[in-house]
Amino acid sequence: MAASTQYLQQQVNTCVSIGATYEGRDPVLLERMLPFVDYIEVTLETISEVHASRISLSSEVMSEIKNIGKAAKIIVHGVGLSIGSHEGCSPTYLQLLDDFLEQVDVAWHSEHLGYTKVDGEHLGIMLAMPKTEEALDMVCERVTAIQERYNLPFLLENIVHVVPDSPSDYSDAGFLNALTDRTGCGLILDVYNLECDAHNHGFSIQAFLKELQATNVRELHVARGVEHNGLLLDVHSQLANTSTVELAQHVVRQSGGNAQVVVYEFMPEAVPGLGHDAIAEQLGRLRTAFRN
Ligand SMILES: [Fe+2]
Repeated sequence: MAASTQYLQQQVNTCVSIGATYEGRDPVLLERMLPFVDYIEVTLETISEVHASRISLSSEVMSEIKNIGKAAKIIVHGVGLSIGSHEGCSPTYLQLLDDFLEQVDVAWHSEHLGYTKVDGEHLGIMLAMPKTEEALDMVCERVTAIQERYNLPFLLENIVHVVPDSPSDYSDAGFLNALTDRTGCGLILDVYNLECDAHNHGFSIQAFLKELQATNVRELHVARGVEHNGLLLDVHSQLANTSTVELAQHVVRQSGGNAQVVVYEFMPEAVPGLGHDAIAEQLGRLRTAFRN
C-alpha cells in the first residue's frame, strides 16, 4: 500500500469534513466515494464539452451532480479563470460558472492564484503570480469583483512554482496574508504543492507556515504525483503520502477551527491505475484521521 496508516495515530482535535474531486462520467466511482465524503469538488472545465467551437457544461455530468442531492455538498474548483493574467479573467470560465450556479447550489467556489494565459494565448500550464504590490492590487480588485458578482465565499489556492520566482515585494505567505486581509477571501492550502516546492526549490514549509495567517485557510488539498528528472510533479496520480496528510493535520490545528474540509485530489486519468477500491480506502483513512 502506497500510503501507510501512521497518521491515524496523530489525529487532529478539530473535526474537519472530507471531500474528493469528481470529474464525472464514472458513476460507479461516485457511488463508492459518497459514503466517505461530505463534499464533492468539481472542476468546470473538466465537466464541459466543446460543440461547434463553444464550450458548455456536459448535460450528462450535470445530471450526475444534481443527483448527488443531499449525499454531499458541492464545491466548485476552477482551473481556467486565470485571475493572474494581466489582460483579465477568462470570460469563458465566468460563463461556465454562471451556468453551473444557475443549476446547482454550492457551498463556495475557488480558483488557483496564478495564470494560464498571456495575451489571450493559453500557456498549457499554470504559473504562479509575481508577488509584487502591482500584482496584489490587480488580483485584489478582481477578487472583490468576483465576490460581488456571485455573493458566495471565494477561495484562492497556492500553486506550485514551476520556475523560480522573479524579484518580489512579498514572501509567499506575506502575499497570501495581504490578499486575505484586503479582500476577506479565504484560502485553499494545497499541502502537496508545498511539498513539491520544498523538493524542487528548497522552499521552507516551516518558515511559510510560521508566517501564514492560517486562520484564513478554509480548505486543504492532499494529493501526490510522481518525480520526473528530479522534479516532483503535482500530477495527482497517486494516493497521498503519510507526510502530506500529517502536514494537512498540522495546518488544520493551526487554522483554529476555520478549516472546514480536506479534499483528496486525483485526476480522472489516474483512476484506472489506482482503482476504485484504493480511492475509497484513501477516503476512509482520511475520514478516520480528520473526523474525530
Ligand atoms: Fe490543489
